Amino acid sequence: MPEPETYSYPRYLNAKKSVDARALNRRIWTQFVDRLSSRGPLIEILEVGGGVGATVQRIVEGLEDASVKQVHFTFVDLEAANVEAAQDTLRQWATRRGYAVDDGERQTWAGGPLDVSVRFITGDLFDLTDELEDETFDAVVAQAVLDLLHIPAALRALRPLLRPGGLWYLPIHFDGVTAFEPPVEAALDARIERLYHESMPGVGDEEAGPAGMHAGRRLLTCRPDVGGPLLDAGSSDWVVLPRGGGYPGDEAYFLHHILHFVEDELSGHPELDRSAFTDWLQARRQQIDDGELIYIAHQLDVLARSP
Ligand SMILES: C[S@@+](CC[C@H](N)C(=O)[O-])C[C@H]1O[C@@H](n2cnc3c(N)ncnc32)[C@H](O)[C@@H]1O
Repeated sequence: MPEPETYSYPRYLNAKKSVDARALNRRIWTQFVDRLSSRGPLIEILEVGGGVGATVQRIVEGLEDASVKQVHFTFVDLEAANVEAAQDTLRQWATRRGYAVDDGERQTWAGGPLDVSVRFITGDLFDLTDELEDETFDAVVAQAVLDLLHIPAALRALRPLLRPGGLWYLPIHFDGVTAFEPPVEAALDARIERLYHESMPGVGDEEAGPAGMHAGRRLLTCRPDVGGPLLDAGSSDWVVLPRGGGYPGDEAYFLHHILHFVEDELSGHPELDRSAFTDWLQARRQQIDDGELIYIAHQLDVLARSP
């Protein structure tokens, strides 16, 4: 696939679904679903930074075989375009799955193994305690979100929304390793990787700002901010490999979008020769086109509980 003419963030989020599905840590996921289903026939879940709704789909799939009868989601994202995409994607997905979907104040899904409702909110997770007043939830889910934020502040903002014994499910948090293979030029590859990590907000200023490249490991020491025990953690590395000269699903687009992030962050960087960087991007894009590029990102999934 040659470089696309335009980039779309919702398309990137849709393209990453199959990459996440391979990456998510099965042990952490199984514990999350088992503990969640033991909380009763009605489960209420708050998902923040939900993107285009991938995690709602995964949780519904996970709970359809459990003893749970009803699931109510409150789905929050900062970007209206993502929330609209989530609404459409979930409507279509649930309909294909055999649910009768009704778009009212909440989107409701009936006639399937679970009764599901999804309330969509375009908003900032830091404002939710005011917006949701006294509401509380059985689980707070944040996938690939906290690496963009100041982790202790985000967890402290969300903590009042979790019921006693409620679960934090925090998967796909970047933890400091990016690799593109095969090499283009080893020294340049290493410099670009280092500068890309350094461009992530918060490096060297972890108390004051977002966790940046070390979000995954920051979550391992977040116990004071979640207010209860860390139950488990495990790796959820993205590994995107060509198969038979191409990539599954829309993963060629996913790789182009990753290079687009790198280009956005590092264009004009004083430590990078402009034409060497342009050639590097061109070589990496050609590797996608030729079905040769391999991409790895190390990430962690974390499960914790409120007291
Ligand atoms: C990397 S995406 C992950 C989306 C989705 N969880 C997934 O894994 O596919 C991060 C998402 O967090 C949202 N986000 C970032 N800051 C936020 C905030 N302060 N409040 C709510 N959502 C936020 C972004 O709009 C984006 O959709």
